[in-house]
Amino acid sequence: MIGHVTDPNAEGGLDLRELPEPTPAAGDVVIEVRAYAVNRGELHLLQMRPNGWTPGQDVAGVVVQAAADGTGPKAGARIVGAADGGGWSQRVNVPSHRAAVIPDNVSFADAAALPVAGLTAIRALRTGGPLLGRRVLVTGASGGVGVFAVQLAAIAGAHVTAHVSGTHRVDLVTSLGVERIVTTLDGITDRFDLVLDGVGGPVLVEALHHLAPGGTVAAYGMAGGQKAEIAFTDFRGATNAKLTGFFVYATDVTTFGEDLGDMARLIGEGKLRVPGPRRDWKDTRQAIDSLRKRSATGKVVLTID
Ligand SMILES: NC(=O)c1ccc[n+]([C@@H]2O[C@H](COP(=O)([O-])OP(=O)(O)OC[C@H]3O[C@@H](n4cnc5c(N)ncnc54)[C@H](OP(=O)(O)O)[C@@H]3O)[C@@H](O)[C@H]2O)c1
Repeated sequence: MIGHVTDPNAEGGLDLRELPEPTPAAGDVVIEVRAYAVNRGELHLLQMRPNGWTPGQDVAGVVVQAAADGTGPKAGARIVGAADGGGWSQRVNVPSHRAAVIPDNVSFADAAALPVAGLTAIRALRTGGPLLGRRVLVTGASGGVGVFAVQLAAIAGAHVTAHVSGTHRVDLVTSLGVERIVTTLDGITDRFDLVLDGVGGPVLVEALHHLAPGGTVAAYGMAGGQKAEIAFTDFRGATNAKLTGFFVYATDVTTFGEDLGDMARLIGEGKLRVPGPRRDWKDTRQAIDSLRKRSATGKVVLTID
């Protein structure tokens, strides 16, 4: 089979070439990959592991070999899954508990966008407890995690405010049904019960200044590349609030499949949209560049015919 592997001598440090077939553990299904998504975190890993690393966590495809221990989807099932690398290839292993069957009307491309971004969004939102009637701020709302977070928070009954980097991102987030979209929190007088922040730096500090007493900030990323300078006094209006560092892989990975199945069902019911560019997998390097340059919005997904 062919797949992507890091190689310092290849163009862009990434080669597409013949690779060994996957070797599944007893609890793994093997899938023929039809689509995969690229995550911002993988941009960093590509630089950290420049030689012989096979990237790719977010995959959707057809099971060609069921798990030897009898768990998970059967051969022939259309699934989405979170792989431990190797997903930017024709075939890959996925632990069966990190996989879910997708409805017939959900495309592989939409499903492939779900694992890292969707799981981060749904699980970071849960750090705020029940969201019915709560005020939720999502920063980086045009990004991979953000586009899912604003929609899932609204589905859970929250009043959602989306923070975007500029007015050029407003249309995209409006298309997801969000009514309150801001580029700054200046002038906002209400306070948020929950903030999901994937931007960091001054955006995180500004969000803290608009946190409700007892509220929660789930800080899951630093897409803006700047550290936040935070002092005790930043919590003055948000007494006894919590600032939590959220890592999706530190949550219960054995139930990833359940959440993936729920989100795939929401897509099938037309309640969860998956914006972002779709490209042929031969354009993976260009797709990575678009993410690096911040020219892409939503989830960047590559498809394999
Ligand atoms: N902790 C975890 O488990 C976990 C899981 C997933 C992701 N992450 C991390 O979370 C972050 C976001 O991930 P993602 O997949 O959503 O990335 P993404 O698709 O690249 O989205 C990043 C978002 O942040 C916005 N942004 C970037 N710099 C900004 C700035 N200076 N001011 C305002 N907005 C800014 C982007 O706006 P534009 O539209 O203008 O680019 C975009 O909306 C990354 O750092 C990623 O590594 C962590």
